[in-house]
Amino acid sequence: AAVVKRKMKMDRRWAKAMEIVKEMQEKCGTPIGKLKQVADAMVVEMHAGLASEGGSKLKMLISYVDNLPTGDEKGLFYALDLGGTNFRVLRVQLGGKDGGLVNQEFTEVSIPPNLMIGTSDALFDYIAAELAKFIAQEGQEFELPPGKQRELGFTFSFPVMQTSIASGTLVRWTKGFSIDDAVGLDVVEELTKAMKRQGLDMRVSALVNDTVGTLAGGKYSYKGVAVAVILGTGSNAAYVESAQAIPKWHGDLPKSGEMVGKVYCSWSSHLPLTEYDHAMDNESLNPGEQIFEKLISGMYLGEIVRRVLLKMAEEAAFFGDIVPPKLKTPFILRTPDMSAMHNDTSSDLILVEKKLKDILEICNTSLQARKVVVELCNIVATRGSRLAAAGILGILKKIGKDTVKDGDEQKTVIAMDGGLFEHYSEYSKCLEHTLDELLGEEVSKTISIEHASDGSGLGAALLAASHSPYLEVENC
Ligand code: GLC
Repeated sequence: AAVVKRKMKMDRRWAKAMEIVKEMQEKCGTPIGKLKQVADAMVVEMHAGLASEGGSKLKMLISYVDNLPTGDEKGLFYALDLGGTNFRVLRVQLGGKDGGLVNQEFTEVSIPPNLMIGTSDALFDYIAAELAKFIAQEGQEFELPPGKQRELGFTFSFPVMQTSIASGTLVRWTKGFSIDDAVGLDVVEELTKAMKRQGLDMRVSALVNDTVGTLAGGKYSYKGVAVAVILGTGSNAAYVESAQAIPKWHGDLPKSGEMVGKVYCSWSSHLPLTEYDHAMDNESLNPGEQIFEKLISGMYLGEIVRRVLLKMAEEAAFFGDIVPPKLKTPFILRTPDMSAMHNDTSSDLILVEKKLKDILEICNTSLQARKVVVELCNIVATRGSRLAAAGILGILKKIGKDTVKDGDEQKTVIAMDGGLFEHYSEYSKCLEHTLDELLGEEVSKTISIEHASDGSGLGAALLAASHSPYLEVENC
């Protein structure tokens, strides 16, 4: 009788756990009709965001970049790329029209976690000190003639309200940064002051977001680039807009007639949200903001899976009588680990077993339970990547590239970058497949996605070159 009773208890628990998974699956559903709705809502919000500042939850920020690289840029330029837990210092030597990219060297440094929530001066001093180190190690061939300053493109991948190509104030932090005294400050001014404190004689010629940098870097390799998308820790996009379609732009119309705009994945209409998303948002450093990003990007996907697993442990004893204590730690399950589990092709899911043990200290899982974990990863990643595809469709619609037009010979290229896109293959495969499905066969032949690997630093250096006061652009 005891055995029968125990079996019945296990069956009840299993049934309850499956109920939670089933509900998650239903709530995360993204049928094509829903995705088209999301894309259409995005187009509406894009119009509203372009019409007036604050006109939409979807921030449409102007980049002041009205000319993308031509390939004629020439000279020695630097870039600082700060966008997440790591930052890069980069030096490029541009050879002009026929020279291309002569030389590129970089170093990558991680930001100590305490600096992500400290003070503005501490963060910028740290960055400037690393930049000074990089320059101190350079060979003599990179010495500049007296009186000439080194020039820098600054990729700063947080929401910034730009006031010119080389100035802009921080609107708010995202991606786990929270440095209150920096909000509202001009980040170029802060960097410049920190560089002075380090005794560095450098000038910031361009301030860009990673999306804008990727657009510029992508354009250097692919002529047809019109959109750049970052799918990494955070997510965001930039695209080339006709200047006349930006009513809130009161400056002169640029000669090119175009302006690069940053989209900011910060709206929430029509999104399939679950209780786990709401709870994660409420407990985040920026509640109510960047909801779209919180469904699709790398910082959050693993955390959503953790929250569902915790509920299954608490309400259905999914991992046994005791709720595994580690499972209660926010952000302990990182998206790269989720990706590894999702991608486990071994018949007994050894990798899933290992990850559960190493990260969450959950031992002795059954194969059946491990399959459920994989299924959950699949649900969360599928929703994220399909929504990301819908966001891209929204942008393509806005620029009229969702249909085939006569005379359009060049393919429209979407420059993509970010660790999520690069390393989470189930995610990127699903994204590309969904975008094809949304566009239909004929249109999808006219669109290509290219991985612009680390294009944002190069793009910033290229934009520093084209906005240099010394202008070494050939044929100029
Ligand atoms: C976050 C940042 C945004 C950036 C994106 C991708 O959304 O706020 O500026 O472009 O992440 O890194």
